[in-house]
Amino acid sequence: MECGKAKVLIFEGEEEMADFALQRWQEIFLESLRMKGRFSVILSGGRTPAGLYRKLAARGEKSSWRRTHIFFADERFVPFSHRDSNYGMVKRLLLDEAGIPSGNRHPVPVEDVSPAGSAERYEADIRRFFGLSAGEMPEFDLVLLGMGEDGHTASLFPGDPALREERRLAVAVVLNDERRDRITLTLPVLNNARHVIFLLSGKRKARTLKKVMEDRDVSLPAALVRPRKGSLLFLADREAAACLTEKKAEGTH
Ligand code: 6PG
Repeated sequence: MECGKAKVLIFEGEEEMADFALQRWQEIFLESLRMKGRFSVILSGGRTPAGLYRKLAARGEKSSWRRTHIFFADERFVPFSHRDSNYGMVKRLLLDEAGIPSGNRHPVPVEDVSPAGSAERYEADIRRFFGLSAGEMPEFDLVLLGMGEDGHTASLFPGDPALREERRLAVAVVLNDERRDRITLTLPVLNNARHVIFLLSGKRKARTLKKVMEDRDVSLPAALVRPRKGSLLFLADREAAACLTEKKAEGTH
């Protein structure tokens, strides 16, 4: 199904969705090597992408990891060893399992004194990696995102000032609740990527996905992810796609 530039593919379950995402990752990896000689990818935390991370780790092919640079869409302001750390989760499931070199890992530096300090350090790492001059936006090859029931993505939450950021690449998000303070990439970074893929599963996401895909409810941060020139693909299992009404040109996979 196509909704403007966004495309939705629906899968029987999470396993099939992760298999497809793995295949798409490989395609974009090879395309990026042809274009740039390296592959820069942004990973998200949360539960949904875990199956894909495990499949990537099992893939082996150490040579491909030397050409892959892994960044993060967001991070909680906790030590990497903390159960809520996105880096900690990805490190366990993928980075250590696959033996990804430390120089290819670009975590959000959370040992700073404040989320704002971490965001500045993270932005400096991204600018250095891409060799950006002032005002330039990085072009990541692939961004993997999830979506919360409230329509948040990365750590861009409804109504948060971070949604209006147009210049900075990464900002602090102070939540003062159990969600913990965060650091997040901003919409200009996500929307400058060559490929954006959302991974969604479970019935709790169904109503929100319909609001994003069909109602185009721009109060929801996930609906604001619209790559300027890149592709936008929503991968959903049947439960998450249950409220979508328009004919699904793609059918189920
Ligand atoms: C995070 C993620 C966040 C996540 C959504 C969906 O730090 O938690 O970056 O944006 O993608 O909350 O999470 P689930 O995949 O667990 O539903």
